[in-house]
Amino acid sequence: MTPDEFRRLGHELIDWIADYRDGIARHPVQAQVAPGEIRSRLPTAPPEQPEDMRSVLADLDRILLPGITHWQSPRFFGYFPANAPLAGVLGDLVSTGLGVIGLSWQSGPAITELEEVVTDWLRQMVGLSPAWSGVIQDTASTSTLVALLCARERATGYAMARGGLQEAGAPLLVYASAHGHSSVEKAALLAGFGRDHLRLVPSDGTYAMRAEALAAMVEEDLARGLRPCAVVATTGTTATTAIDPVGAIAEVARRHGLWLHVDAAMAGSAMILPECRPLWDGIEGADSLVLNPHKWLGVPFDSSLYYVRDPQHLVRVMSTNPSYLQSAADGQVKNLRDWGIPLGRRFRALKLWFVIREQGVEALRARLRRDIANARWLAEQVAAAPHWRLLAPVALQTLCLRHEPPGLAGEALDRHTMGWAERINRSGAAYLTPAVLDGRWMVRVSVGAEATERADVAALWETMRREAEGG
Ligand SMILES: Cc1ncc(COP(=O)(O)O)c(C=O)c1O
Repeated sequence: MTPDEFRRLGHELIDWIADYRDGIARHPVQAQVAPGEIRSRLPTAPPEQPEDMRSVLADLDRILLPGITHWQSPRFFGYFPANAPLAGVLGDLVSTGLGVIGLSWQSGPAITELEEVVTDWLRQMVGLSPAWSGVIQDTASTSTLVALLCARERATGYAMARGGLQEAGAPLLVYASAHGHSSVEKAALLAGFGRDHLRLVPSDGTYAMRAEALAAMVEEDLARGLRPCAVVATTGTTATTAIDPVGAIAEVARRHGLWLHVDAAMAGSAMILPECRPLWDGIEGADSLVLNPHKWLGVPFDSSLYYVRDPQHLVRVMSTNPSYLQSAADGQVKNLRDWGIPLGRRFRALKLWFVIREQGVEALRARLRRDIANARWLAEQVAAAPHWRLLAPVALQTLCLRHEPPGLAGEALDRHTMGWAERINRSGAAYLTPAVLDGRWMVRVSVGAEATERADVAALWETMRREAEGG
């Protein structure tokens, strides 16, 4: 494709995306296809000869679009808001258009330095002190894995440089809330702690970790000769947006020398609102934290920010430094390959930079406040309606709810809950995610897609009542 052909097709594709976003509310939110349906419409072997790009674009509409669940729809209330403002789409386009890779500072100085600048902007936006240094990772799962690797190496005095995990010694332990994200468990397993050494700390009535239970478990483990190593607190759990008491957990961590990692993947975005910052009071006592601008804040996936207080330790754990990547500038610059697992880095900072500059922090704050107000409004409707129940506090923008008709309990109630949620999803009118809480199915309503206004939330409420009460 020549630059001129690219220009023509690129304009068409930009129009295609603009038209898609303009008309997004017309699509059924959930893809209306059966498993395997999309695959069956695609050739099983690659083309030997070049194809006309027009036929590729036509297939986007004809084959792929029906297989899309529309996360940017105003009626998308599933999982979490994964906002992708169009300024961010352009930022990503520039990143691929430049086709550069950050292997080292020298391989693309702007990649590193813009990342330093935007991670520091984000730090200021969420009210963290200058003691934190940030780096962009792909996902919170990666960030949490990096955190637990750093915890392991601090606790063992860098055993990886000697016998590593094979080195004898009492087992190291990781603590997390039973309501923490599955990525915490995955990170603990991948970092070599082993399932037997992952302790799930009980939670209170709001599904938040009980700091005194953590303290008791740590003391008991110490008494048994085990080595408590790290605790992962969550600011905004996945199921209910529960808020672990970071300050009290930090106190336990400090007392026993545990690494404290805070998973604020979802709720970290809310910290751009000064009124929400009490939710992570004590955050300055953590060693590392992750927040995902690719969730509610609205930077297109993938954009996960990992902050640490001791970058030298991070670099010592992650650095390899082969000769072909060394340069004369090394003493004066950051080589971000030493701040995480991958060597090559995309120019991810661009989309953050585009979004923050195009929107401005004040507009980002206004959007999040709108979403919190919409969630509160819906919570009021649910609380006031007969036989509807909110199952957890609405800390930010996620509601956990159930319709509980008199006489329905146990598995019959589960069938009722799954039934009305499925009917809504299948209809395409809105998209919700059911989940299990305390052993029973409930429905999560995650408010906060960029396009979602009060009218969409009101329409959802009407749909839920119709499907649940009439079903
Ligand atoms: C609290 C929390 N932590 C971690 C994750 C994992 O995020 P990622 O997809 O960035 O790995 C999620 C995803 O929803 C989450 O809600």
